[in-house]
Amino acid sequence: MKKMIVSILLLSLLLPLSAQKSGFNYDESKVPSYSLPDLFVTEKGKPVRTARRWERIRRPEILHLFETQVYGISPAAPAGMHARVEKVVEDAFGGAGTLKEVTLFLDPAETYPVHLLIAVPKNAAGPVPAFLGMNFWGNHTTTDDPNVTIPDGWKGAYSGKAVTDHPRAFNAERWPFQYILDQGYAVVTYCREDIDPDFDDGFRNGVHRLMDGDTPRTGTSWGTIAAWAWSLSRALDYLNADPDIDASRVAVFGHSRLGKTALWAGAQDPRFALVISNCSGCGGAALSRRCFGETVGRINSSFPHWFCSNFHQYSDHEADLPVDQHELLALIAPRPLYVDSASEDLWADPRGEYLSLYEASKVYALYGYDTLTDPESPEIGHPVVRGRTGYHIRQGKHNILLYDWQQFISFADRFLK
Ligand code: GCU
Repeated sequence: MKKMIVSILLLSLLLPLSAQKSGFNYDESKVPSYSLPDLFVTEKGKPVRTARRWERIRRPEILHLFETQVYGISPAAPAGMHARVEKVVEDAFGGAGTLKEVTLFLDPAETYPVHLLIAVPKNAAGPVPAFLGMNFWGNHTTTDDPNVTIPDGWKGAYSGKAVTDHPRAFNAERWPFQYILDQGYAVVTYCREDIDPDFDDGFRNGVHRLMDGDTPRTGTSWGTIAAWAWSLSRALDYLNADPDIDASRVAVFGHSRLGKTALWAGAQDPRFALVISNCSGCGGAALSRRCFGETVGRINSSFPHWFCSNFHQYSDHEADLPVDQHELLALIAPRPLYVDSASEDLWADPRGEYLSLYEASKVYALYGYDTLTDPESPEIGHPVVRGRTGYHIRQGKHNILLYDWQQFISFADRFLK
């Protein structure tokens, strides 16, 4: 009897929890029928059949909708940005390259430091192409190299956990530096927390504070993903001045929330030569209208700070969205674009990620490039590249692993070497 009462009590405690877990769907038969916004018809109802019309009319229309309805409007670069090289260690990463630490200050007073970790391949003959992407938990978590500095007082603001919870090499499986360096690419990374700590504090912290001060927020004010994306452009501003890196050959990439970020950065900033989205899911590569895996309603309630507040009106009203994520991908055309998924990562909707790329690749045809021809997703472990778009689905979980990097590099080799 006692046992039964305890079980009933436990159950009643659990019920509200599972009720909170609404807002996702793992059942393909429950995907609603939907029609996607047309890439090739302007807001005035005119057809778009040329790259010129795409660039002059349709692309700006779509970009504006993503700014005002999804991510929020980002400011221009701040005045007084400057950088300081702090440390150079030759023969790092098992001898594969040089480790550089550079602090990029976003303001003249140096109150907003961004700690860049830069890995440059050994014996590079001149400036090299690079992969640029943020890390989740601090530069020191990307490698076991003891030369990587742990900034004073570093604390993961998202988790509130101290560095001891995210020790050196905590995330190293995502960062195969040696392999990437051996292929002739540099890697540039910094922690998302340097830009905007990942929790909802009413936008009083991070670069929102620096750039907006006390300006009241509106429906189109930039959220955290926009802030992170903006910082990738600031990192690229710095790379223009770095003699080791060829800033005209920078691939911007990111995993998961940072994959959403890489896409938004690549869509806005045409200086990124190539864009990679790894398991970016809802608000990234996946089509919102499929409502599969994480939905718009769910992401807005779990992460109210990620998008602009206008985006919240589409929670559970995906059909009313004036855009869908295939249009985000299309903004990257004609630059090379690679999307990937993982087979067990249903939360990110692998099917919706592929379909989105499939639709977006049609814009590449305006530029004379081949497009993806098969609406069926490729098989697990069978990457497909057509023209300037590529995709794979890796066996396994939500992550970014060596297999993924191997595909990114063989894709990048076609365009950046
Ligand atoms: C959560 C979130 C996703 C996000 C992921 C991540 O799972 O719901 O949208 O992509 O975190 O960034 O790891």
